[in-house]
Amino acid sequence: MTWPSGETAFVTGAASGIGLGIARALVARGARVALVDLDAHKLAAAVGELTAAGGSVAAVELDVSAADRWADAADRVEAALGPVSILVNNAGVISGAPMTGTTLESWRRHFRVNADGQFLGTSTFLPRFLERGGRAHLLNTASMAGLMPVPGVGAYSASKFAGVGLSLALREELRDTDVAVSVLCPGTVSTGMVAADATGEHPAGADPDRVGEQVVEALEAGRFWIPTHGDFEPIVAALHREIEQAFRDTDDRHGPDPSTQLMLGGIDPVDRMLRPETAR
Ligand SMILES: NC(=O)c1ccc[n+]([C@@H]2O[C@H](COP(=O)([O-])OP(=O)(O)OC[C@H]3O[C@@H](n4cnc5c(N)ncnc54)[C@H](O)[C@@H]3O)[C@@H](O)[C@H]2O)c1
Repeated sequence: MTWPSGETAFVTGAASGIGLGIARALVARGARVALVDLDAHKLAAAVGELTAAGGSVAAVELDVSAADRWADAADRVEAALGPVSILVNNAGVISGAPMTGTTLESWRRHFRVNADGQFLGTSTFLPRFLERGGRAHLLNTASMAGLMPVPGVGAYSASKFAGVGLSLALREELRDTDVAVSVLCPGTVSTGMVAADATGEHPAGADPDRVGEQVVEALEAGRFWIPTHGDFEPIVAALHREIEQAFRDTDDRHGPDPSTQLMLGGIDPVDRMLRPETAR
């Protein structure tokens, strides 16, 4: 039996789109899957389909931003399907507006669902993974908009940069454990989130089922970065070159940075540099 066969996965935003694609691919590889979503109607259809295909699945109605609902959802899934070892923090929302037209409520909604949801999933399951030991995997769905500026969806983009930052921090903190971390950065994927192109001028985005297969292959291989479309590379690379140039343009007026010196010496700067009351 090869991983993820026999494992239990908890996939949020699994009633449609990329989440459903990932759930389908996990079921096809023999994993048990908790399909987690707000939308009870679509959840029922997805569970019906995957059960008919011979999968061991369960539907969980959960708003990923509801902090007080996570522990109960995790307990119910583990009682029904066994200990979870794969967490896919995929649920997300988007709305478009330039920053000048973005309301505080819209900003907060993006962060509640896209960023808090991933934090809550992580803080619910990571202690269980570490306590039980053994191979586990945590995946956050970010976006190309979490790697490069996308004007017109600034609140979404900022919340997706948060997902990339969370994933990078987790990767460092979990380096010496059996818990692997991945971050999915989709380009355009043909889901309910992306309006169909009525003109037919532009090709459709990627098929969410193919993205699901790509994700499960990347989890099997233990890959951290999972971009769906290579053609974003020049845009992301140009941004990175701009940042590198800004470093080269910096003069030495402040002298060497003390945290960098500690990090280069292999010492965790948090214990040394933060005041004791804020350190942990
Ligand atoms: N489709 C794309 O082109 C694209 C590109 C980049 C990133 N993404 C990301 O992929 C992820 C999945 O999106 P998708 O494209 O499959 O869209 P989708 O709308 O098909 O799926 C999102 C799912 O999340 C669920 N959901 C929304 N809010 C929720 C909440 N608070 N709690 C629980 N479930 C909730 C929805 O009911 C829906 O089933 C999102 O995080 C999105 O930001 C999508």
